[in-house]
Amino acid sequence: MKVKQVIENKKFIARERERSLLTKIASKGESAIIVVYGRRRVGKTELLEQAYRSRNILKFEGLEGKNQQAQREHMLYELAKYVQDPILTKLKLTTWVEMFELIARYINTGIWTVYFEEVQWLADYGSEFASELKYVWDNSFHYNQKLLLVLCGSSPSFMIRKIVRSKAQLGRMAPQCQVLAAKRHSQQQRASTHLANNTESPDKLVST
Ligand SMILES: Nc1ncnc2c1ncn2[C@@H]1O[C@H](COP(=O)(O)OP(=O)(O)O)[C@@H](O)[C@H]1O
Ligand SMILES: [Mg+2]
Repeated sequence: MKVKQVIENKKFIARERERSLLTKIASKGESAIIVVYGRRRVGKTELLEQAYRSRNILKFEGLEGKNQQAQREHMLYELAKYVQDPILTKLKLTTWVEMFELIARYINTGIWTVYFEEVQWLADYGSEFASELKYVWDNSFHYNQKLLLVLCGSSPSFMIRKIVRSKAQLGRMAPQCQVLAAKRHSQQQRASTHLANNTESPDKLVST
């Protein structure tokens, strides 16, 4: 397995609250789903990668404007690179259940962070991704108590409607699900105390 190596960002600023929340979730030693949303370039990826630098990260990235079959093919390509087995790219997977069950085979033990990036594109703005993920979470993923599954998206409305409040209830089913809506980090530097007291806008920290 060749996992993503994240170098420490010595210029990382602020985000103490979000970082300590992520650390707290990881230290509980229970499998968990974490939902992170916020507009592009607010610092979601940097936050997650820095906070979980010491864990094994399998990151799968959505592609803008592609359908779900193309997203699965790309995910298979990324998985093949992680597990260093190019033969995987020859598989024909036609559902998310098949895709997630394949990933689950590689991470049923050990300290893993499976990180889906730009979930709104992976899901092509639909509901299948979340409902099939729930099935595989219930039947496979959650048995590894050291697994954190991160769902990250840059469309707050999609992440709330189709993930957190989806029929699949991904926002409610996990032992803990935190929703972080990151504020632009440069602004946060100036207004970090303001963040703690204001949860009205999607640009603020929200917990479920
Ligand atoms: N807390 C932070 N401190 C310093 N730089 C940051 C911080 N968060 C993000 N950045 C930088 O800002 C840019 C955008 O962040 P990124 O995490 O890619 O945003 P997003 O994933 O929300 O689109 C990157 O160059 C990243 O290194
Ligand atoms: Mg990102």
